[in-house]
Amino acid sequence: MTAVDPVRFRETLGHYPTGVVVVTCIDDAGEPQGMVIGSFTSVSLDPPLVAYFPSKTSRTYQRVRTGSSFCVNVLGADQEDVCRLFATGAPDKFDRAAWRPAPSGAPILDGAVAWIDCAPHAIQDGGDHDIVLGRVTDLDVESAANPLLFFQGGYGRFSHRPLVAVNEDVYCAIRAAERGREHLQGLAEELGAEVNVIASHGEEMVYVATAVCPGVRSRTVLGAPFPILPPLGEVHVSGWPEDRIAEWVAKAPGDDDARARQLARVRQAQERGWTASLAGGRPEGELREALRLWSDPDLTPAQHREVTERIARATDYYQPFEPVDGEIYDLHSLLVAVPGPEGRVDLVVRVGQLRHGVDAATVRGWVSRAKQTARRLAGSE
Ligand SMILES: Cc1cc2nc3c(=O)[nH]c(=O)nc-3n(C[C@H](O)[C@H](O)[C@H](O)COP(=O)(O)O)c2cc1C
Repeated sequence: MTAVDPVRFRETLGHYPTGVVVVTCIDDAGEPQGMVIGSFTSVSLDPPLVAYFPSKTSRTYQRVRTGSSFCVNVLGADQEDVCRLFATGAPDKFDRAAWRPAPSGAPILDGAVAWIDCAPHAIQDGGDHDIVLGRVTDLDVESAANPLLFFQGGYGRFSHRPLVAVNEDVYCAIRAAERGREHLQGLAEELGAEVNVIASHGEEMVYVATAVCPGVRSRTVLGAPFPILPPLGEVHVSGWPEDRIAEWVAKAPGDDDARARQLARVRQAQERGWTASLAGGRPEGELREALRLWSDPDLTPAQHREVTERIARATDYYQPFEPVDGEIYDLHSLLVAVPGPEGRVDLVVRVGQLRHGVDAATVRGWVSRAKQTARRLAGSE
């Protein structure tokens, strides 16, 4: 067997990311002890077992080894200082970190994301390390915060966001919107509303421009991304190939009828170049809050799922819309496709904060004015 170079061993295994925990205990002398461990893992559900792999030569481990219990503290992303402290042999670690006893008495560090209280179960040989199995006696999540991660010798945090937040498409969209600024402003003033330009990149949309009629306050956060996820993004989706349209529709919650209604909105955007949604009864505050959270880079995967569900819950408020003579409407927003190359819809003009209580003819008038602005943005008029 060829000998494995230790440097290469460390370097290669450093490509495997881990979380970071501090294993704590009260030692035989009644003193708190703690050491940083990256090699922590859950092992068994029945019985509930976890394991970590301490170096046989660690002085801290010598003391933890004989304790009657130990507690695993999952460190949060903002606890790098705690990690550095507990990775040393400093004798005063617990004077510099606040803690309280777990049910077993072993320390729970302030700020830990979660703790797992354990009774020693078995210690097995693992070369120059021990394999310590602990039987879980109690455990809890302390906070919804992101955990600290260790990777290639450095610390980091989990991010659900793509690494490249803005790409060339978005810069192009900003330039196009800037070129058409006077048309956006004209539309906003004529309709007494707020007019936005929305670009897309990947599975997200982003506001790249806003214009408001004097007296109307903008509600737009420029640059904040939000998801192309039912009920949002139907006009951008209308320029997608059929298989991707089907994927978008499939994400709509509810039954087949609910999904058919979302598909109908995409078809309206394809056929007419515009869609609209009605105000009234909408969970407006909840949706706005969910969209604000969406772009928070510190969301944990669990929080991100929760935000996604909140957006999906608004789906029923977005139905296919066709103005009918004799009806009176309160429109929430009007979306118009900016015709792009090869049928793509890279940009959408959105009109919001529209006057309420209008008839079908007024809505049709708004649509034709917004479509004219969209054509001007596309440079085709
Ligand atoms: C991110 C990180 C992960 C670590 N993981 C382990 C580990 O899994 N096992 C281990 O024995 N030591 C690990 N250490 C090193 C110990 O924390 C460190 O050697 C110990 O706390 C101090 O040594 P002492 O106990 O001999 O005083 C890790 C250190 C860091 C910074």
